[in-house]
Amino acid sequence: MAPPPPLANIDWSKLGLTVNDSVNGHIEATFSLDTNSWSSPRFVADPWLRVHGLSPGLNYGMQAYEGLKAVRTPSNKITIFRPSFHAKRMRHSAETVSMPPVPEELFMQCINEAVQGNAGFVGPASSNAVLYIRPVLFASGPQLALEAPSTFTFAVYVQPATTYHGVQPLPCLILEQFDRAATRGTGHAKIGGNYAPAMKYSREAKQKGFYMTLHLDSATQSYIDEFSTSGFIGVLTKKEEDTETGISQENPTTTTLVVPDSKQVIDSVTSDSIQTIAKSLGYKVEKRPIHYTELAHFSEVLAVGTAASVLPIAAIVRESTGDKFVYCPAGKPGPAAVELGARITACIRGKVEDQYGWLYEV
Ligand code: COI
Repeated sequence: MAPPPPLANIDWSKLGLTVNDSVNGHIEATFSLDTNSWSSPRFVADPWLRVHGLSPGLNYGMQAYEGLKAVRTPSNKITIFRPSFHAKRMRHSAETVSMPPVPEELFMQCINEAVQGNAGFVGPASSNAVLYIRPVLFASGPQLALEAPSTFTFAVYVQPATTYHGVQPLPCLILEQFDRAATRGTGHAKIGGNYAPAMKYSREAKQKGFYMTLHLDSATQSYIDEFSTSGFIGVLTKKEEDTETGISQENPTTTTLVVPDSKQVIDSVTSDSIQTIAKSLGYKVEKRPIHYTELAHFSEVLAVGTAASVLPIAAIVRESTGDKFVYCPAGKPGPAAVELGARITACIRGKVEDQYGWLYEV
């Protein structure tokens, strides 16, 4: 059956990533350690949750979250991008902070029902709007001792939103006063504890005119981990040289995407998808440690994520060394940002054949 049309009273071009409590509701399921089982998911209209004030979710940071996108395709289907990748990542996050994971089947059922129950909030295929899906898992029952409580809540919220693809390049600051993730810490998990401490530094950076912050490894403050809200991709563009003469050839360049090989970064669905697309277009992809001085060699730098989509970075500044690495001097996204941004958007929006099986139809 065809989904209901997009609601008529929403301006789909001006959504951003804000909270709109007029959506129809969210999904909730609870896990009981006593029975070792999950309840059936239920659709709840009230966005406020019932959580015990002494829950480890509130007191000890026992929580994890995800971010996915649903869209309306040109053939009026509603599809979700790579939900299985997100389900596996959430399992990893849950295990990292000592919580029972949400089984993949239940994860899929919950996001499916959350989107179905709010299908009118999925914007027109012709717009840039998405239905942002926010699954959140946390310890919701009472427990003062440093142990798991008997009750966990898995909730899936949705919000009509627009992602940022296509915006002008933005400046970024290397964060130096604070380490996002310890060497053997939890930086690889999508948990609130990796975001909250960086917020005040992000706010300070914004006041200085920097749109986002870039985090380096905590052991040496030299290797790139990720941006405060998204994954890092550096673009290396090299002239092909004739190996015998050393002279540049007419057909000029190879483009290589360089992504950080770090145990303390969140496995980005968008970065993984872009790497796959890039390889199919003849780009090279290197996953390896990236010393921050290599920022001088990149022709472009991209911040990539579900909310950020593909965001070109205009400049990266390191205040302690006085370094300023400038990209996009003309104030426009570079060729890799444009090409990869357009390709991944076409995949997410069902505008090209789903050759990798990334789309899940609601
Ligand atoms: C996302 O891109 O989905 C995220 O979770 C980042 C968040 C800070 C908005």
